[in-house]
Amino acid sequence: MKRIAVLISNKGTGSNLGAILEAIEKGLIRNAKVVVVVSDKKDAYGLKRAKEKSIPVEIEDLREHLAKGATRSNYNKTLGKLLKDKYNPDLIVLAGWMLILSKEFIEYFPDKIINLHPGLLPDNGEYITLASGSNIKAIRGLHTNAAVKYAIEHNYPATGSTVHFITPIVDEGPVIIRGEVDIKKGDTVESLYKRIKSVEHKILPQAIELICSDKLEISNGKVLIQ
Ligand code: GRF
Repeated sequence: MKRIAVLISNKGTGSNLGAILEAIEKGLIRNAKVVVVVSDKKDAYGLKRAKEKSIPVEIEDLREHLAKGATRSNYNKTLGKLLKDKYNPDLIVLAGWMLILSKEFIEYFPDKIINLHPGLLPDNGEYITLASGSNIKAIRGLHTNAAVKYAIEHNYPATGSTVHFITPIVDEGPVIIRGEVDIKKGDTVESLYKRIKSVEHKILPQAIELICSDKLEISNGKVLIQ
């Protein structure tokens, strides 16, 4: 049984956490359980979903740590150590986690942390080729609504979401799955994000199932799926 830790913040609604839990219940993710939900904010809506399912939660507020004299790297190390020692997860899923995780955290879980990014990320470089054949610049460094707004404002024909392993470089790292979503005339951030989220609710559980069933490996910085 693989042990999953899900990290969330308070910008989203925890809908991807909900999708993971549902996929486990339906047997779409086999051989796995969510052993802890972590948030840096006590008002993250997803915490309610965790509590409803009696999943342990941990709240580690960055501002409180900084107020007590910790540095960002201390915070990362404390968080990594807490998770490792108390929950020993096989997989860490960032599902709406807003803070950059530095190498002090990543070192605890090499090749075991995946992120869901609300934009299409290429394997390498700055640009990604859409199914239609046109190229768009990857949207990096923007969270949730801001990433969706960027795609609309820059007249992208499509955007989407990417599940990828994380590295110390933000929004880089081996890509597992992408989901492309066409942008329609008149789309608002809300209407487009709704369609992106429904794609996310499929690709994130798919990626987790591949990892939990040991069907995936990283070789030379690329994901190989059996
Ligand atoms: C997702 O859109 C994900 O791509 C981004 O944060 C959002 C979280 O949404 N990193 P939710 O809280 O799961 O609804």
